[in-house]
Amino acid sequence: MTVNPQRKYRDDYQAPIYRIDRVELDFDIRDGATRVTARHSVRRNPQRIGDGGRWWLDGRDLRLLSIAVDDEPVTDDALEVTDTGLWLDDLPDRFTLTVVTEIDPDSNLSLEGLYRSGSILCTQCEATGFSRITYFPDRPDVMSRYTTRVEADAARYPVLLSNGNCIESGEAGEGRHYAVYEDPFAKPCYLFALVAGDLGVIRDVFTTTSGREVALALYTEHGNEDQCHHAMASLKDAMAWDEATYGLEYDLDSFVIVAVGSFNMGAMENKSLNIFNTACIFAHPEMATDGDFARVRDVVAHEYFHNYTGNRVTCRDWFQLSLKEGLTVYREHQFAIDHGSPGVTRIEQVRMIRDVQFPEDAGPRAHPVRPESYVEMNNFYTITVYEKGAELIRMMAQMAGREAFTKAVRHYLDKYDGQAVTIEDFVLAIEESTGLDLAQFRHWYAFAGTPRLHVRSSFDRGRLSLEMAQATPATPGQANKPHFDIPISVALFDEAGSVLRAPEIVRLTEQRATFFFDDLESEPTVSVLRGLTAPVRLEFDQPPDALVQLMAYDSDPVSRWDAAQSLYMATLAAAVTAYQNGEGMPALGDGMITAIAALLSEPPDDRALLAEMLTVPSTTQIGEAFDAIDVAAVEAARRHVKHEIAVRFADEIDRLADDHAPRPGYVFDQESAGRRRVFAIALDYLACLDTPAIRERAHRVYDAADNMTDRMAALNTLQDLPGDDRDAVRADFARRFADYALVMDKWLRLQAATEDGDAVARVRDLLGDARFDFNNPNRVRALVGGFVRGNPLGFHRQDRAGYALVADEILRLDRFNPQLAAALAGLLAPWRRYAEPYASGMRDALARVSETDLSDNTREIVDAGLAVETA
Ligand code: BES
Ligand code: ZN
Repeated sequence: MTVNPQRKYRDDYQAPIYRIDRVELDFDIRDGATRVTARHSVRRNPQRIGDGGRWWLDGRDLRLLSIAVDDEPVTDDALEVTDTGLWLDDLPDRFTLTVVTEIDPDSNLSLEGLYRSGSILCTQCEATGFSRITYFPDRPDVMSRYTTRVEADAARYPVLLSNGNCIESGEAGEGRHYAVYEDPFAKPCYLFALVAGDLGVIRDVFTTTSGREVALALYTEHGNEDQCHHAMASLKDAMAWDEATYGLEYDLDSFVIVAVGSFNMGAMENKSLNIFNTACIFAHPEMATDGDFARVRDVVAHEYFHNYTGNRVTCRDWFQLSLKEGLTVYREHQFAIDHGSPGVTRIEQVRMIRDVQFPEDAGPRAHPVRPESYVEMNNFYTITVYEKGAELIRMMAQMAGREAFTKAVRHYLDKYDGQAVTIEDFVLAIEESTGLDLAQFRHWYAFAGTPRLHVRSSFDRGRLSLEMAQATPATPGQANKPHFDIPISVALFDEAGSVLRAPEIVRLTEQRATFFFDDLESEPTVSVLRGLTAPVRLEFDQPPDALVQLMAYDSDPVSRWDAAQSLYMATLAAAVTAYQNGEGMPALGDGMITAIAALLSEPPDDRALLAEMLTVPSTTQIGEAFDAIDVAAVEAARRHVKHEIAVRFADEIDRLADDHAPRPGYVFDQESAGRRRVFAIALDYLACLDTPAIRERAHRVYDAADNMTDRMAALNTLQDLPGDDRDAVRADFARRFADYALVMDKWLRLQAATEDGDAVARVRDLLGDARFDFNNPNRVRALVGGFVRGNPLGFHRQDRAGYALVADEILRLDRFNPQLAAALAGLLAPWRRYAEPYASGMRDALARVSETDLSDNTREIVDAGLAVETA
């Protein structure tokens, strides 16, 4: 921990002085300590001849037992060891380095490096966890071929795994055994993985297009095998999809996934040995919802896709993170669109960008998709790098056309195979292959902030004029923004819904420009930025009747949903203002009533789309419409609008619930998941009416449910209806699923989100419950994250008890899991977006955290949150 942590700058990049061609690792796993012997074949980087013989190796929390160059111990005057690594001096141009260190996975609660999750020993090395295993240049541009020997007690650790192929295994005496793995592909150290444990397994085989058989295995702690079949099926889907879509065939003879309970992230793409959070693998109908099933499918695909976009071609340095993550999220999005309702899948992506990425890009932590500097890399695995990064890829794909873009990605992968490259290299490859000119487009990577796109339409004598203008607000450290190259899709419809102009893309490259559409008989209905063709905020004042029309017949489901959202927003915004002024709440707008009535009488075939269109914008989305978020007003407005809809359409919604009532026999497919979603939203509306009939119905559904999706729908409904019966159901839930930690996370979340009573006291009690475990990030995210995100009124309580709770937990966690603590600190950081008294309450809590000696991770977030606004 340092008061003034080191900041790293993208411009300071220097190629490594030494390259390591071969790494031989030997793990001797013993109780209390694991000995790691590393032998590296090192040679000077030809690019850096004459740059001296001094070399920096990263290393943290290591016990250095010995270090030798060409088997000669390094003398004291050629060695300088610090808290974060060591310097070696007087090195020859080519040598073998041998380093022996001791580490203790059992006392490593950071969940980086080698650590314990239950009975499993596993590793997490991205971004810089390898330096917790041995002294090494922990940077992605040092790529080596690894051979790994693992030795451990045969009874406690019958399964020993590492990257690549097992080339040898056997007994090692005294009840011990060993295995040796060789990975034929050169890789950066962040892709190294090791697992040792007593594990259950399910196996399968995938035959590639060229006829090679790939052995698939999915390991977890014993007893969970029946929860892994969906993940295995998803893996095979992903492998087939990547062959069919990109012509990419898996490149090794085995692919292994290990699911562990304690994991800081969702999952990790280590070469041929992915390690997953159980939350992203387990999916059994009785324990997991449709949302969980979809998440498992997509995360499995995402990590698999990294085998090319990330592993075969990797990042030169961590500023280039979006090179692999943005591109892989884009591929994951394509995969998801091909495996569910295309419209609703895109809607979910758009919502994520608007509800989470836009706020990040407008807050204290705004940064470009390719950041310029960081203190702690773990803080930059952000929604901006991931999702905005994916949107930039999508824009290029749209401009090039999907086929040309796929070819360009192949060109990129062929050109740089086996190398560590930059975002600039990627963009160049895309230009080479597609012929696009991306000179101005590159600004998207370099500048933070969400451009505002202002659109005005006018109609005169058969000509429609669309006047468009862009402006991007300043972000921390970037006062002035350039003009972005913004692709905007436009379509025109007549009153009956016929297409007057098929969707086309116009590009706004200047500050403002006007686009003309001629030979129109009457004023058309305009649909712009369809499906969010660029990550910008659209400012386009459309009359309600135009929105009602778009909602009814726009050919793009995303646009239909978007029109519905705009209609809801109009009433919601009026309700927020009325609440703030102490006036009576407004009635539902006419446009909205017409639209919902039409939606209910002529619902879209896609049930999931119907559910989406019936969903009132989230509290985050409503807050986004205001300069200062007034939590109480937003909550009151949302509740009011939902209640009004429920009253006005009670009969229709009741019928909707009947028509979509649960059916026995769970299958996870688009049609059935869509039906369940409609049923859940119908119940949610009916709950607003709080009648005995709805209570009774929710109980019946809860008792009879044969799957978690329906059971949770009923439970959520009862959640909003306080009373003894609700508490009884909750207790029943805890009893039924006591043995399933991930289901108990749902139980924790549910209680954190419940508004009545003293929510802060309830959460504090649960922090001390035997079913809670501080060392497990899933539990912390469920309870503390679930409280902040799921219980706005509780978190933003006027007595500041909600903020105090979160500050306490940040401080507690920061001592052993800085990555998780920093993530929680991120929840307090955007305090400036809130109205008083919320803003100063959040700020003061953050200031209290700031007074303590903090990890670099948390320090970086807290400092950004408290910084005086510059730009
Ligand atoms: N490479 C990341 C995992 C990672 C992130 C490791 C940060 C270390 C630090 C992985 O590919 C990833 O992006 N995982 C996501 C899920 C994915 C579907 C977006 C995650 O873990 O949340
Ligand atoms: Zn990823």
